[in-house]
Amino acid sequence: MQGTNGRASPEETARREPELEIREMEVDDLAAVFHLGERIFTSEENPTLYRTWDEFEVTSLFNSDPEFCLVAEADKAIVGFILGTTVTKTRSAWKYGYVVWLAVAPEWQRSGLGSRLFDKLAEKMIEDGVRIFMVDTEASNRPALAFFKKKGFGNPEEQVYLTLNVKTYQEKPRRGRGSRRKQKNGTQT
Ligand SMILES: CC(C)(COP(=O)(O)OP(=O)(O)OC[C@H]1O[C@@H](n2cnc3c(N)ncnc32)[C@H](O)[C@@H]1OP(=O)(O)O)[C@@H](O)C(=O)NCCC(=O)NCCS
Repeated sequence: MQGTNGRASPEETARREPELEIREMEVDDLAAVFHLGERIFTSEENPTLYRTWDEFEVTSLFNSDPEFCLVAEADKAIVGFILGTTVTKTRSAWKYGYVVWLAVAPEWQRSGLGSRLFDKLAEKMIEDGVRIFMVDTEASNRPALAFFKKKGFGNPEEQVYLTLNVKTYQEKPRRGRGSRRKQKNGTQT
């Protein structure tokens, strides 16, 4: 039913909008989460995330930290996820909550879903004794940086990712290493 001004009535809008549920990830979600990640962590948009995203990221975090693996489901489809873990240092009272992966389907971005996923994870981590949240992302990933800044993250420390092609590594002369050993032992190794 339409309102008198031709627009959808609030009831109709509510009916059309898919119900969104944020819940813990289940074993049946593993493939959907992996494939959504494949769609989002592309070599063009997120080269480092693309290189490190694989099935084992999903299965191992689900295995080690199931309570910190959350999905957003709408119309029986997975449209977002957040995967985290906690780190405790020996002889330290501090427990860190590390956001390892966060992704929202493009058609759902900028609708507050990423924020809801993070808030739910944060709530669970706080209950678990976490005192500091951590995340890392590429310096070129502006949406993610803007997102985490909006959530209150600060003190960015630069991290530089380097890559080395195996062929280049194998072709590289090993001279430097040998001469250092010679100096130390007095013999060529
Ligand atoms: C980063 C990401 C998860 C954000 O999810 P989202 O659901 O779009 O975020 P929200 O709608 O909750 O945004 C919350 C706030 O973050 C900021 N923000 C989010 N996306 C932004 C963008 N593209 N540009 C600028 N600011 C942005 C805004 O301040 C936004 O508030 P506003 O919409 O009221 O202005 C999403 O862009 C994504 O999946 N990116 C690809 C994967 C990725 O880079 N993941 C992070 C590293 S693992």
